[in-house]
Parts: sequence; structure tokens; C-alpha cells
Amino acid sequence: MSNYHIKHLEEYYQVYRKSVREPENFWEEVAEEHFMWHKKWDNVLSWDFTKPEIKWFEGAQLNVTENCLDRHLPTRGNKTAILFEPNDPKEAAEHITYKQLHERVNKFANVLKNQGVEKGDRVCIYLPMIPELAVAVLACARIGAIHSVVFAGFSSTALSTRINDCDCKMVITSDGSYRGAKTIDLKGIVDEALESCPNVKTVLVAKRILSNISIKEGRDQWLQPLLDEASTTCEAEVMNAEDPLFILYTSGSTGKPKGMVHTTAGYMVYSAYTFKNIFQYRENDIYWCTADIGWITGHSYIVYGPLANGATTVMFEGVPSYPDFGRFWEIVEKHKINQFYTAPTAIRALAKQGLELVEKYDLSSLKVLGSVGEPINEEAWHWYNDNIGKKQSPIVDTWWQTETGGIMISPIPFVTPTKPTYATLPFIGIQPALMDENGNELKGNQVSGRLCVKFPWPSIARTIWGDHQRYKDTYFSAFENKYFTGDGALRDEVGYYRITGRVDDVIIVSGHNLGTAPIEDAINEHPAVAESAIVGFPHDIKGNALYGFVILKDVGETRDQNNLRKEINQIITEHIGPIAKLDKIQFTVGLPKTRSGKIMRRILRKIAHNDISNLGDTSTLLNPEVVQSIIDGANSESTN
Ligand code: WTA
Repeated sequence: MSNYHIKHLEEYYQVYRKSVREPENFWEEVAEEHFMWHKKWDNVLSWDFTKPEIKWFEGAQLNVTENCLDRHLPTRGNKTAILFEPNDPKEAAEHITYKQLHERVNKFANVLKNQGVEKGDRVCIYLPMIPELAVAVLACARIGAIHSVVFAGFSSTALSTRINDCDCKMVITSDGSYRGAKTIDLKGIVDEALESCPNVKTVLVAKRILSNISIKEGRDQWLQPLLDEASTTCEAEVMNAEDPLFILYTSGSTGKPKGMVHTTAGYMVYSAYTFKNIFQYRENDIYWCTADIGWITGHSYIVYGPLANGATTVMFEGVPSYPDFGRFWEIVEKHKINQFYTAPTAIRALAKQGLELVEKYDLSSLKVLGSVGEPINEEAWHWYNDNIGKKQSPIVDTWWQTETGGIMISPIPFVTPTKPTYATLPFIGIQPALMDENGNELKGNQVSGRLCVKFPWPSIARTIWGDHQRYKDTYFSAFENKYFTGDGALRDEVGYYRITGRVDDVIIVSGHNLGTAPIEDAINEHPAVAESAIVGFPHDIKGNALYGFVILKDVGETRDQNNLRKEINQIITEHIGPIAKLDKIQFTVGLPKTRSGKIMRRILRKIAHNDISNLGDTSTLLNPEVVQSIIDGANSESTN
């Protein structure tokens, strides 16, 4: 029996049991049968969560791009690898075959080499969702450079922090990007960022919007002329299994963003194996994930997972609302999409638009629907199931994280019976545990607690770039010998998991992880602000929105409060990006603090949720009187 493609529930349980009882044998078989290696491993797994140190397929040698490209050439050379759908529906879609993609990656890889990029160097990629983004990612992997893709919605400050943290020597960007009816000056953002990045020697610029940009002599170069001159052959660098493949930043509850490091072999095996099973991809299917490659979902399930399986993966440059809210469904019809993977926030926004824009299009090609990024609420689940899947396409509610590299808890479509709002069962090889606050594992069903994982899986991030101690403290210190996810979850009577949300100070807004600390730091930069605290509150489209409680330096501040609110959001946009803007800002004279000076966010959260009936014990506060004044102020607050 091949373990690679699971087709029945019985088979799931069988394979799952094997993956838990004999994880090394199990993953060895998967790795052996389905990938191309220069040299096989000496050891499948060694691990120690106390250090923490995790190594998969040690001793093996490979290149991921040979697995994603070269190996498909004999059988799939003329099959579409990437189907690019531009922002403007009137612009033609582009079908890039495996053969063409292979050539484009090789050319780009040669450009990188000619520009002095070497194995192990870090390259920052700050591009919109155009084919060059996927090509740049694969070109780095081809020569063993470590890519660090930064989502092109991040501000110049956020970009420079990420460039400097892992010391990138090159930035790949474009002259700008399209976003619906707007254009964005990406190159201008890069120029601003690079004012504080002295180690970046080269900027390669792809042409997209044909705008006038400034070119800094000696640093900036147009990409196309370099590609035109480059050779179409580039031998793949032979990488060790545990060589880093990429760094991807994610927000922490405190401090600067964490550069999660993913390595080569384990990441490839797990992203490919999950893709095949969780989307039940069959040859000739057209698969579309609407995420941006700037996030982990795009890395694993637009680029690496699909290409490792020889799939056709759609890259969409635009937004769901342009030219109107029917765009997603128009694309589904146009390209006869079979698997469609998106985020609850998009589903909620589209559900609000009514059904005419859905019913206009033929969605009968759809077989599997996916959801990722935050808990999907029951209403959105049913809307998706009824109107998009017509009750025929199972919804895979996939729970995972930047840190996990691949999907961890999810139904397998046509195998696992789905249940609204439940991510259902652990995927093959994943051993979840629910813990109580005292560190005891909660056994049995119908329990809820903090979600941990007890055993390593191939694509777990290996460290935080430059800060292994922080990796240990964040993920391996809360519970002994377990990886702690930061999420809460419950297990129902049949063993299905439902993710209940973050239990730390990370807030998920429209599916984007935002740490409270960096936003508060940004707000505190405003000259009139003394202190601030951010909490989340429910929002019908974004899932959560941000509520800021702000203390002004001058109690008698006479400036217009709405102007202050705008200025605060402007600072946040500059420091982080528009995704982190606050929906509500309440000016207050104090914040509830513990005697040790920590802000009691629990109380602020309740006020923001308008749930003040049970605030819990406030007597231990340093300043209990402030609570009532915040409650009174909240009632008179206006939305921004
Ligand atoms: C949340 C995204 C509920 C969760 C792949 C996690 C989810 C964080 C789900 C990671 C889901 C992701 N149900 N919650 N299906 N998927 N989350 O790193 O809180 O951007 O810890 O990775 O998103 O977000 P990240």
C-alpha cells in the first residue's frame, strides 16, 4: 500500500497510526518514493525539544527546485505550472509551463550568481503577486541562497527591520504594483527602507506598472536586461537536508518580528505530502490558493507544495473586490478551478455582497474548498458550503502556522466527515496535545486547553534567525518537552479539534498575525501619546479588529481628537502597514495595571468586547478606579 495518497477514512486511521508508532519508517517511505535525492539520508530523525534541536533526513542531499521543476520535465514539460491571472481582467492570463518555468528560474538563478549572490546569502524579495515573485523564490532555492520574502503591503520601516535582521545583501522588487484600481510605489518604499540598510548592495527591479522610478547608480538594476543575457541552464546547488531554505517573518507578542527558519528536505516533504492529500490534487486539476506568497500559505501552498506535485497553481495578482466582488467567482469559472483555498475574512466580505455576484458564474468545476488563517465562524462556513460548494465540495478548515511550515490539523476531503468550525483531525504524523494551565496534559475527549504538539514533524521551523534562545523561550518553555502553538483548542466527543483562538498577545486581523507590542511602540511615537494598549474585538469581516486605549501626555490636550486618531493611524501605517490600523481609539486617563506594573489586557479586552458584566477580580489592581472611567469612556467612543 502506498501511503502517499489517502482515499478512505479507514486508510487515514491506519496510516495515522503508523505515522505515530513508527514515524521514522513512515516518513522515510514517503521521502524515498516521491522525491529526487542526490544522496539519501543517514538518519531519518534526531530531535531534542529541550535544546531544542530537530533534524530530519540528516545526511541527505538534494535541491528543492529539481523536485519542483526538473523532475517533471519528461512527463509534464508542457503542462502549465503557474497560471498567472493579472489584476486587470482585460489583461490576458499567462500560462507558464514547467519547461518555461524551469528556464525562467535558471535564468534568474544565473542573474543572482552574476550579481555575486552565493549559497547561504540572504536575499529579500519584496514583490507583488506577479510570476517574477515565484521565479525569484525558486531561483534563490536553485543556488542555495536563503530567500526572505516580505509581503509587499508592509511599510518601509517594517521592510528595513526585516532586511537588517537577517542581513540581506540584495533586494528584489518592482517598479510598482497594481492593487485593484490603485497602484503602489513599491520601489519608493524600498528606497526609503534602504536608507537604513547599509549592507544591501544590489536592488533588482522588475517592470510591472511602467512608472517613472529613480534608479540609484551602482545599486539598482533593471531585471529584464540581465535576464535576457543569462543562460537558460543552471545546475542546481546540492544542498544538505538541514540547510536553510528560507526565512519568513511572523509577529510575536513582544519585540521585533521573528525570522522563522525553514530547512530544505523536511519542509519539501511535508509541504508536498500535505498538499497532495489535503487538496486531493489529481493530475490536470487547476488549483488556486488566493493567499499572497508573502505569507507562509503562499510559500507552502502556492509555490512549493503544488510544484513538488507537478500541479497547476494559480497566482492571482489582484484583490477580491476588483473590478467588482464577483472577481473570485469569475476566475473560478474562467480557469475551471478545482481546488479553491482562501481565508475566512475574504469569505465574510464576499458573503456580505449578496448572491447575484455568485450566481452569475459557473462554479461547477470546484471539488474542494479550503479555509486558512483564523477560525472560520459558523455563518461563513455555511455560506461557503451552500453557495460556493453547493454542498458538494468538502471544506477543509486547515489549521497551521508560519512556524509549522505545513497544515497540521485538517479534514482530508472525501475522507474525513467535516463539521462546521472544526479543523477536525490531526494530519498524518501530527501528535497534538491539549494542556491545562498547570502543565498537565488533558487526556480523553471533551476537553479544552492550550494546543501543543508532542512530536516533531518534518516541516517544523528549526530556529528563529539569529536568536535561538527566543525560539526556545517562545515555543518550548511553556510546556515541558512540547511545542506550544500559542493557540487554544477544544477536542470534542469524537476527537475533533476546534481552534478557539490565540491565548497570547497576538491578534489575528483579516487573517494577519499582529503582535500588540510593535503597534503600541508605533503609537507611542506620537508626540502627544504617553502610553497605549491594544486589544482585539470582534469584527464581522475582519474577524478581529484593533481597539487602542491611549493615554495622552497632556490631560488637557485641546487638539481635535479625530485628528489625533488619524495621526496615530498614520504612524501605524508608516511603521507597520495599513493592515495594523486601529478601528477604534479611546483616549483615557489611565490603564488598568497590576501591582507589578503590567497592563491587565483581560479587562481591556472585556471592555472592548462590551462584556463588562463580569470583569473578574479587579481589587488586585494598582488603580482599580480607572476601570470605571474607561467603561464610561468606551460608551461614548466613536468608530474611526
Ligand atoms: C490562526 C497561517 C483557526 C492560529 C497558516 C494560528 C487558524 C495562526 C487557522 C497562524 C484555522 C490559522 N483555524 N485558526 N484554520 N489557521 N489560524 O502564522 O491562531 O499566519 O496560530 O499561519 O493563525 O498564523 P500564520
